[in-house]
Amino acid sequence: MRGVILHGGAGTRLRPLTHSGPKQLIKIAGKPISMWGVQQLISFGISELCVVLGENHPEQVVEFYGDGSWLGAKVTYIYQGEPLGLAHAIYLTKECTRGEDFVVYLGDNVVLEKIDSLIKFKGAASILLAKVEDPSRFGVALVEGGRVRRVVEKPKESISDLALVGVYGFTQEVFEVIEGLSPSWRGELEITDAIQGLIDRGKEVTFSVIEGWWKDTGTVRDLLDANLFLLDRYMNRSLRGSVNNSVVEGRVVVEEGALVEGSIIRGPVYIGRESVVKDSRVMPFTSLGERCRVQNSSIENSLVLDGSSIEGVELADSIIGRNSRVSKSHRSSLVVGEGSVVKL
Ligand code: DAU
Repeated sequence: MRGVILHGGAGTRLRPLTHSGPKQLIKIAGKPISMWGVQQLISFGISELCVVLGENHPEQVVEFYGDGSWLGAKVTYIYQGEPLGLAHAIYLTKECTRGEDFVVYLGDNVVLEKIDSLIKFKGAASILLAKVEDPSRFGVALVEGGRVRRVVEKPKESISDLALVGVYGFTQEVFEVIEGLSPSWRGELEITDAIQGLIDRGKEVTFSVIEGWWKDTGTVRDLLDANLFLLDRYMNRSLRGSVNNSVVEGRVVVEEGALVEGSIIRGPVYIGRESVVKDSRVMPFTSLGERCRVQNSSIENSLVLDGSSIEGVELADSIIGRNSRVSKSHRSSLVVGEGSVVKL
């Protein structure tokens, strides 16, 4: 069994955060989004990984995962470039998966529910489904008589409220189907068309419905939700950095080389390596990346990415992209990148 992790796509809905790097590498609670999936695959004994790269700074993915040995995995990179669709990306892994069954993990999905049903499955493919309120955002599946009958990408009319979650199990049979696919109306080779192709050939596509939390981190709202959930689920108190003259309550991680001084921190909170928090309040569901600085500020339910600083401000429900500065001034003076949202 091999693992395929997709790191391509344009990430348009997450601009400006994705101007300088792929969305799958945005760190939540100290880990890139895709690493939550990678570690899950490794925990199931899937250590041979095929990582598909897009055209948005693919070198950052290679730099981060390297050859995978530091994670106990072996990583092979495949360059997709232009996002020609999920089925296109999967087709490129034909060599890399070398005749074995494989699990495809969309690098922007975090699925905490057990993915066992995709590791060992009957039939030509296996999918995970979840009930959603907005099926038009997803691929959906029509299940009748205990079988998957139809799968449709981003349906305009409601045919089902069961969305396809972004982790799939495939056998090698999918490659033959993809060879016969044509681009959809949006110009992509769709994964749903590949699955439908298997069904149309009379192959069995098994499924299981998950009840627990999962997220497609496609939008800013989703990223904050994922930050909240992952901090809540995974933070255990660990103060490896220095804490002076401060009140630190609950499940707070202060990584090595970080400094907290004259502050109140209320968990769940993650403070990355070499970050400094001074004379501030860091309230629940806040992740600070590496080398961040928070001074004379209050921040809650927010994500501050590596190398950023905030000073003299009160923030909530915010995402501060890498190497950015937010500070108080008597008159607002802004340098705002394309796609930014500023509420003053
Ligand atoms: O999140 C689940 C949904 O993911 C499913 O319900 C849909 O059926 C499936 O098509 C997909 O929909 P999205 O609209 O969310 O797909 P997105 O374009 O965001 O791409 C998903 C991931 O795959 C993302 O990490 C980027 C990567 N990707 C995407 C394309 C189009 C590639 O690596 N190559 C590509 O060509």
